[in-house]
Amino acid sequence: MFHESEVVLEASHIVKQFPASGKRVLTACSDINLHVYKGRTLGIVGESGCGKSTLVRMLIQMDNPTSGKILYHGRDIVQLPKKEKWLNRQNMQMVFQDPLASFNPKMKIIDILTEPLMNFKRLSKDKKEEKAKELLHMVELSEDFLYRYPHSMSGGQRQRIGIARALSLEPEVLVCDEATSALDVSIQKTIIELLVKLQREKNISIVFICHDIALIQAFAHQIAVMYLGHIVEVIPGEAVGTQAAHPYTQALLGALFSINMEQDRAIDSIEGEVPSPLDILEGCPFQGRCGFCSDRCRTEKPKLREIGPGHQAACHRFL
Ligand SMILES: Nc1ncnc2c1ncn2[C@@H]1O[C@H](COP(=O)(O)OP(=O)(O)OP(=O)(O)O)[C@@H](O)[C@H]1O
Ligand SMILES: [Mg+2]
Repeated sequence: MFHESEVVLEASHIVKQFPASGKRVLTACSDINLHVYKGRTLGIVGESGCGKSTLVRMLIQMDNPTSGKILYHGRDIVQLPKKEKWLNRQNMQMVFQDPLASFNPKMKIIDILTEPLMNFKRLSKDKKEEKAKELLHMVELSEDFLYRYPHSMSGGQRQRIGIARALSLEPEVLVCDEATSALDVSIQKTIIELLVKLQREKNISIVFICHDIALIQAFAHQIAVMYLGHIVEVIPGEAVGTQAAHPYTQALLGALFSINMEQDRAIDSIEGEVPSPLDILEGCPFQGRCGFCSDRCRTEKPKLREIGPGHQAACHRFL
C-alpha cells in the first residue's frame, strides 16, 4: 500500500528522556519507529501524557531526541549544523492547538501570515499584501481580515490563519498537534475538510495528533496508536474499525460513545490507571490494563511487527 520510495520523514529508534526529581528519568518516547509518506496523513492517537507532542516536536526538530535518528528524505536532520537545521524548518511546519497563544496578539493578520516568509527572506515588503490575500483565499477567508487582530476572530477562523501561516512556506510536512481539539464539532469538520482539500492540491504529508480515534479514522491514511511512550499499533485508517488488533486500540474503540447505542449496552471503559512514565516496566507497557496479559507479557517487551499489509502491532498474541 505504501512504498519505500514515498517515505518523506522517518523516525528511527527514537528515544526521549527527561531528567526528573531524585535522579530519576522520565521516558516520554521509547524506541519509536515511524514513517511519514508523501501526500498522506499519519494520525497519532493516545491518551494524555503518552508522548505524542514530544514525538512530533522531535520530528520537526523543535527538540532533539536523546537517541535515534530523524531522517528527512533519508538524511539524518538531528545531526545537521544549526544553520541548515533552521533552513530545513521551512520543509516542516506546525499548527498548534491554540492559535491565540502562538500568535503575537499585537500583530495584524497580514503580518502574522507573512512573518515566516519575511523571516526566511522569501518575500519583499511591497508584495506582503498580495501574498497575505492569496493565503487568506487559500483557507477560504475574506480579505477583510487582513488588517484585523487575532482576538477579533472566532476560534475556527483563527485556526484557518494558523494553517495559512504554516503553509505559507510551502512545507512538505504539516504537523497538527490537537489543531482542532478546542473547536466545536461542526467547525472541526470544516477545518479537516480544508486540510484534506489542501493536501490533495499540494500533495503535503500531514501528521495529525488527536485524542479522538473516531475522528482520525475518517481521514488518516495510517494511524499510529501510542501508549506510555510506545507505538503499540500502526494500522491503515480505513481498517481501524474492523481490524484493530492491539488490546489498547480495541479498548480505545470500545470506549467510544455511540448515540445509536442500545440502552442495555454499557459504555466500555479502559480499566486501570496509566502507569507513570517514571516507572519503567519490564515487559509490555499495557500489561497492567490488559485482559490478555500472560507471564510472557510481564517479562518480555513485545516488538512492533508486521501482522498484515501496512499493519503492525506490538503484542505477544500475534507473534
Ligand atoms: N520538557 C519536559 N520536561 C519534563 N517532562 C516532560 C517535558 N515535556 C514532556 N514531558 C513529559 O513527557 C510525557 C509526555 O508528554 P507529552 O506532552 O508528549 O504528552 P501528550 O501525549 O502530548 O499529552 P497531551 O495529549 O496531554 O497533549 C509526560 O509525562 C510529560 O510530563
Ligand atoms: Mg500533547
